[in-house]
Amino acid sequence: MLKGSYPLDRFDGLRTPFYYYDTNLLALTLETVRTALQDRPSWQVHYAVKANHNQRILSQIAQAGLGADCVSGGEIKAALDAGFPASSIVYAGVGKADWEIDLALEAGVGRFNVESSAELRILSERAAAKGLVAPVSLRVNPDIGAHTLAGITTGLAENKFGIYHGALEPVIREALELPAIRYCGLHFHIGSQILDMSDFVALCNRINDLTTRLERLRLPVGDINVGGGLGIEYEHPNHLPIADFNGYFGVFKRLLGTRADVHFELGRSLVAPCGTLITRVLYVKEGVARTFAIVDAGMNDLVRPAMYHAYHRIENLSSDGPERPYDVVGPICESSDVFGKGVVLNECRRGDYIAIRSAGAYGESMASTYNCRALPGAVFTE
Ligand code: LLP
Repeated sequence: MLKGSYPLDRFDGLRTPFYYYDTNLLALTLETVRTALQDRPSWQVHYAVKANHNQRILSQIAQAGLGADCVSGGEIKAALDAGFPASSIVYAGVGKADWEIDLALEAGVGRFNVESSAELRILSERAAAKGLVAPVSLRVNPDIGAHTLAGITTGLAENKFGIYHGALEPVIREALELPAIRYCGLHFHIGSQILDMSDFVALCNRINDLTTRLERLRLPVGDINVGGGLGIEYEHPNHLPIADFNGYFGVFKRLLGTRADVHFELGRSLVAPCGTLITRVLYVKEGVARTFAIVDAGMNDLVRPAMYHAYHRIENLSSDGPERPYDVVGPICESSDVFGKGVVLNECRRGDYIAIRSAGAYGESMASTYNCRALPGAVFTE
């Protein structure tokens, strides 16, 4: 959103901080995804609920016809409440608890993404006890390093995720033999905030090598879920408000194009650009060497900068005064409670509205009540 298009008069009287969501941008994003996949009607996108589980956002995405990717019993409930059909839900996670497995079986989720043979056996036992059969994809660890933040790569052999690609065959055989398991396919995910399309090319090449090897061994492959990970331009939220879906899907069309059934689990690229954290300046403090803009949002409201040193563009919505560098910091008792250092902002005064951009993904969903603070609210475009 352009600086001038935030409805500051609507914000007056609301308690800050809160997330402001541009549902028109979300609609446009969902339409771009639909158009990009028009020529592949059997390919399906499952929205990664972990990115943002706000019910209104979830409902809008469900209404657009996407499936859901869930990683906990709570997310499955949230997805069902928002109107995602159970059959469109893929359920992943290295540590599924018994109650979560039972809930997913009873709801009839479309797929369990299973991460180990230990999990496979428990799932079979619990499904058999209910007289059900669990549809399963095996999560493969493809040992591919995505060029992204160190904390969010998942596809390397040293990560806890998935079954190492070289050790997959016995687990497929086990899945085929277990009584209450229906083996359906393979699942991959290499990381998040990936802008270098060659990482997805490497993933496709790995998938093609692996499936050729399995076919030679006369093992079934089934369908392919390539996970999520498409990144967004945090630096330029206004220039590129919609992620490069054509480039992204283009890689898979080119390299997995003959497959009838390909699944995606996109989170960030669908929702990050449409969310802004709105906060107000409490105090401007002149330090010895720096000037601090102390705002009323903290790392409990948006943890990404503190947790991953992630960049979010910051703007002063209330001022056109001369530009100055500020350290934009929150009120939490931690020195990592910093949204940005040396951020050039129009001159700040107490009460100014500050926008922390591209915060629609992993913002509200990772908020906490640390320091006994209230969770941030949510406001939507009208
Ligand atoms: N599928 C799986 C198996 C995943 O682990 C993830 C994200 C996704 C899909 C969705 O990825 P996306 O399209 O959103 O990149 N909290 C971090 C990001 C953690 C991502 C975890 N897994 C952040 O704030 O950057």
